[in-house]
Amino acid sequence: MTRKVLVTGGAGYIGSVLVPALLAEGHSVTVLDNFHYSQTSLLEVCADERLRIVRGDAREESVLAPLVKEADVLIPLAALVGVPACDADPVGAKTINHDALRLLISLRSASQNLIFPCTNSGYGIGQKDRYCTEETPLKPISLYGRTKVDAEKAVLDTGTAVSLRFATVFGASPRMRTDLLVNDFVLRAVRDGAVVLYEAHAKRNYLHVRDAVRAFLHALQHYEALAGGPYNVGLSDANLSKKELCERIKLHVPRFTFLEAPVGRDPDQRDYIVSNEKIEKTGFKPRHSLDDGIRELIRVYQILRTSSYGNA
Ligand SMILES: NC(=O)c1ccc[n+]([C@@H]2O[C@H](COP(=O)([O-])OP(=O)(O)OC[C@H]3O[C@@H](n4cnc5c(N)ncnc54)[C@H](O)[C@@H]3O)[C@@H](O)[C@H]2O)c1
Repeated sequence: MTRKVLVTGGAGYIGSVLVPALLAEGHSVTVLDNFHYSQTSLLEVCADERLRIVRGDAREESVLAPLVKEADVLIPLAALVGVPACDADPVGAKTINHDALRLLISLRSASQNLIFPCTNSGYGIGQKDRYCTEETPLKPISLYGRTKVDAEKAVLDTGTAVSLRFATVFGASPRMRTDLLVNDFVLRAVRDGAVVLYEAHAKRNYLHVRDAVRAFLHALQHYEALAGGPYNVGLSDANLSKKELCERIKLHVPRFTFLEAPVGRDPDQRDYIVSNEKIEKTGFKPRHSLDDGIRELIRVYQILRTSSYGNA
């Protein structure tokens, strides 16, 4: 069934892969984005008559209300994403990541599908060898983590929405982000041949951007079955520490050297392993491995040689 989908922040890193995928599935897509990064990532799909682009702010009720009204499906990606971006603009972080979501919820009718992207960084410090499930309490420390988790609560309180708690996403997008952990480390491996690690033993979970997009499509396709809950989405065979991630990258870039030094601290104190069993039981399985992503990123960094494609 083809639907009318509103994607706020649709010109971002995930949106620029999601929007072409939604169009390819036959859906009509409206993108609301303020093009915060002057990104041109949707040029490729502008020829498609089923795509509408609205340049505007997701916080503006006069802009958002008519777009919500005519949509069947709402995918609110618009956000200030990542800790540095939020710390640099705390008012923006609260109003975009949280208040704009509340506004969207107030404008939505229960029959409209709402699929929200949250972050699993809110799990913070996990218990050793215990997998974080959707029942594990969220305790984000950073402003970014808090605004996302507060927004998720508002989303789930509706009882009729889906929240996808994404692992750290990696891979190529026409609106590239080099600040994400895997993307950043592969850039350093290819360009510099070295990285200094802090909190090298802290574990995280990872997910390819195309699998993040497939998770949205899965939620859309199986909405009735999934509605009402949060779902961890990540690679179940990639609960890896930063050091283990570097060891994997080194298999592909043998000259890569990594050293440990106490030069920083994770603002969310992330150190956890995640179970993705709940969404897997609904029939979703990632298709792109960490090694696929590392090989892809090595190709990407023959083209891009700069960290300026980041939210930091
Ligand atoms: N990338 C990840 O690892 C990851 C993990 C978990 C959750 N998420 C969530 O997924 C969503 C998309 O993340 P991303 O990685 O694509 O980030 P991104 O920064 O590339 O995308 C955010 C988009 O929102 C737009 N935007 C910002 N403020 C806006 C405003 N006021 N009005 C309209 N548009 C605005 C930006 O121009 C950009 O296109 C975010 O909600 C993020 O919290 C991302």
